[in-house]
Amino acid sequence: MNTTLNTFTHSANPEFSEQKIGETTVLRKQNDDSRIILDPGLQHTAVCISHVGKINPLIPQISYRGYDVQTLAVENRFAEVAHLLIEGESKADGAFERLLIASTIERLPATRALWSSMPDSPLTSFESAAVLLAGADAKNTGREETSAYVIGAMAAATMVFHDPIGQHTNIIDSNRDDFVSLILAGCFGQQPKAAAYKALNEFLILHAEHGMNCSTLAVRTVVSTGGEAYDAIVAGIAAFKGPLHGGASRIVGEILDILAASGEDIERFIQRKLDSKERIHGFGHRIYRKEDPRAAFMRKNLECEQNHLSRYEKIALSLAQAAIRIEKFRERGIAVNPDLFNGLLLRRAGFVSSENTALLCLSRSAGWLAHHFDSINTKEPLLRPQELSA
Ligand code: ACO
Repeated sequence: MNTTLNTFTHSANPEFSEQKIGETTVLRKQNDDSRIILDPGLQHTAVCISHVGKINPLIPQISYRGYDVQTLAVENRFAEVAHLLIEGESKADGAFERLLIASTIERLPATRALWSSMPDSPLTSFESAAVLLAGADAKNTGREETSAYVIGAMAAATMVFHDPIGQHTNIIDSNRDDFVSLILAGCFGQQPKAAAYKALNEFLILHAEHGMNCSTLAVRTVVSTGGEAYDAIVAGIAAFKGPLHGGASRIVGEILDILAASGEDIERFIQRKLDSKERIHGFGHRIYRKEDPRAAFMRKNLECEQNHLSRYEKIALSLAQAAIRIEKFRERGIAVNPDLFNGLLLRRAGFVSSENTALLCLSRSAGWLAHHFDSINTKEPLLRPQELSA
């Protein structure tokens, strides 16, 4: 980074002198030593030293507490990974999973009552309301109990969304020893098939944590004020919903619907979007210039099953393959992001694309909770940025 740059008076604020360092601007007050860094989009700003996970966008690689995410997705259960993220270690005795299951089942009656007052809400809104209600009802303040209550509230919201009047009670009762099976049984009222289980378990693990980003920053901002885990998670959901972040997954689902119905040539579709200066969801990432490791994992799995793919899966793979040939994407390093594929795993598990973002929030709640406790452990100061007046 070039640090020997011109210093000049900031046009809008004569009290500051301004120094350009790469894409950021350092503003120094004229009469004292204080400084402000102007970094729109926070592209060059680290707000904390996190102990939760690591991302290396160059390899590219993602790890949770030192464990590679792709290995975790193949070898572990979501509850184990959630515990690893939140506590920094995995617990082989299943105690956290039992707590998670008990919390989910405990939240069901109150969540059903809540649903009756907002029956037409999208799942993300219902999920937020369910977490806030759980916060109001919570009696335990321990780390594991709080985490299980938050994640349990989100799982209960998903189950109630599918079964508002509680018709699946019997099948829920026979799936009380596995968190992912419990969700599937509660949603669909039948014993989960192995393929549906694998798809949902992989999905929940792959998206459980992804370092610093808009939603994790929202979570850590609330925590830094002394706010509670329930409020922090609701802030995370609110930030995640937007179409440039976790909301992209829902939009990719809509794109696949349109392409499946129209049969339009994939390359023509991409070119048409680019010509009209539209962004194509499922591509591009702030930190990766190569294919994101989560997307690579899902793409490779689809390629291994070439002969057994659904129509949607074939279209998503064709989009990924066509994008490699698009000049603008090659030049700018715009590669496939996980939102191109993650709805496909959910579809295999039985969900529809309008639920994609809410299920991403359920998955990411583990990472958000890990950041919540990491922020408390490291005694992070109040996150209080500045602005410059025009
Ligand atoms: N389709 C078309 N063009 C794109 C795309 C895309 N998906 N992504 C970036 N570009 C172009 C932009 O139009 C811009 O071009 P221009 O300079 O000619 O105007 C250039 O690439 C740089 O775009 P920025 O938004 O400045 O780049 P940034 O690194 O901030 O983008 C982002 C990251 C917002 C994710 C972007 O790639 C995007 O909008 N993607 C589509 C939405 C999406 O899939 N989001 C999910 C991200 S993954 C996640 O959050 C889980």
